[in-house]
Amino acid sequence: MKSPLMRVLDGEAVWPPPVWLMRQAGRYLPEYKALRASTAGFVDLCLTPTKAAEVTLQPIRRFGFDAAILFSDILMLPYALGQGLSFVEGEGPMLPPIRDAAGLAALDPAQVEARIAPILETVGRVRAALGPETALIGFAGSPWTVVSYMVEGQGSRDFAEVRGLAYRDPALFAELVSMVTQSTITYLAAQIEAGADAVMLFDSWAGVLPPTQFRRYVIEPTRVIAAALRERFPAVPVIGFARLAGAMLAEYAAATGVQAVGVDTSADPVQVARMVPSTTALQGNIDPLSVVAGGAAMAGEAQSVLDAWRGRPFIFNLGHGIVPHTPPEHVGALVRMLRDA
Ligand code: CP3
Repeated sequence: MKSPLMRVLDGEAVWPPPVWLMRQAGRYLPEYKALRASTAGFVDLCLTPTKAAEVTLQPIRRFGFDAAILFSDILMLPYALGQGLSFVEGEGPMLPPIRDAAGLAALDPAQVEARIAPILETVGRVRAALGPETALIGFAGSPWTVVSYMVEGQGSRDFAEVRGLAYRDPALFAELVSMVTQSTITYLAAQIEAGADAVMLFDSWAGVLPPTQFRRYVIEPTRVIAAALRERFPAVPVIGFARLAGAMLAEYAAATGVQAVGVDTSADPVQVARMVPSTTALQGNIDPLSVVAGGAAMAGEAQSVLDAWRGRPFIFNLGHGIVPHTPPEHVGALVRMLRDA
C-alpha cells in the first residue's frame, strides 16, 4: 500500500492532504536541543547515523507527519567534495570560498561516495524504523544554491561574489555547476538506493537571478538531475523547491520535469493553482511565522491553502523552514486541524 504522500506524488488528489514541515526536525523541539547539546557540532550530528536517525524520527513520533525528511544539510555535498565546512554558533555555515581555477581543482568528486557513507546509513536506519504509512524524503540542495555557498563561503545578502563569478568567468562557473550537478545525481541516487522514497531539491536562492540566468543555473541543472534520476528510478518522484521563483514558477515546473513544486511563502496559492497545471503536485506554503502566532492567524493561513488547492494533488507544508521559536503545541494544533479538514 502506498503512503498518502506517495499517492499525491503519483498524481492523486488525496483528502485530507498529507502534511510535513520544512525543518520539522530542529531547534523548536526540546528533544532535538537535548541531543544536539550532547554532540560536538552540527556536522558531527549529520555524520553520526544513530543520532541523525533519532533526530529525523523525533517529529514523526511527536506529530505523526506523513513524511520524515532525512536529517542532514544541503552543505554536506560541498563537505563530501572536500571543501571544509563548519557551522559557527549564531553565524551559520562557513566554507573556505572557491573563487578561481585552483579552488575548483582542489575539489574531488571521487571522494563523494566514501564521504556520504554515514548519511546513507542514516537513510537506511530511518526507513527501517518508519511504518509503511510514512514516506522518507531524501534531499540535496540545487546546484545554484549549493554553488552560492561554495563561492560566497557563507550566507549572503546580495550574492555579489557568486553572481560576479558567473559573469566574469562563465566557463569556470559552468564547470563548477556541472561538477555539483553530477555529484548531486550520485548523492541522490545513493539516498534512493539506501531507502529514500522521494527526493527534494532545495533551491533557496533561486529568486535572486534574472530570467536568463534562472534558466541556465536553476532550471537546466534541475532538469538534468530530474532526468537522470527518472531514468534510473522511474518510480521515485522529485520535488523541486525554487524559492522566490515568482512568475518563473510555471516555466520551472514544466521545463524541469519534476513531479511536484515547492511553493514559497511569497506566492499566492490561488495564483499558483492557475499558473501550474494540476499534472504537477504542489507543496506549501503557509507562513512559518503564522505557526509561531498559532490560533486564528495560523488557522486562517492554513484554510486559504486548503481552499485554493482542494481537488488537486498537493502536500501541505510551510513556505519556508519552521523557525526555532515556534511553540511545538502550535504544530500539534496545525496537524489536528488538517486531519479534520
Ligand atoms: O528539514 C529538515 O528537518 C531536514 C534537515 C535540513 C536542515 N537543513 C537541518 C539544519 C534541511 C532540509 C536543510 C536544508 C538547508 N540547509 C537549506 C535549504 C532550505 C532553506 O532553509 O532555505 C539551506 C539554505 C541550508 C544551509 C544552512 N544550514 C544554513 C544557512 C544554516 C544556518 C541557519 C540556521 O537555521 O541555523 C543551517 C543549519 C541547520 N541545518 C540547522 C538545521 C536543523 C540548525 C543547526 C543547529 O542545530 O545548530
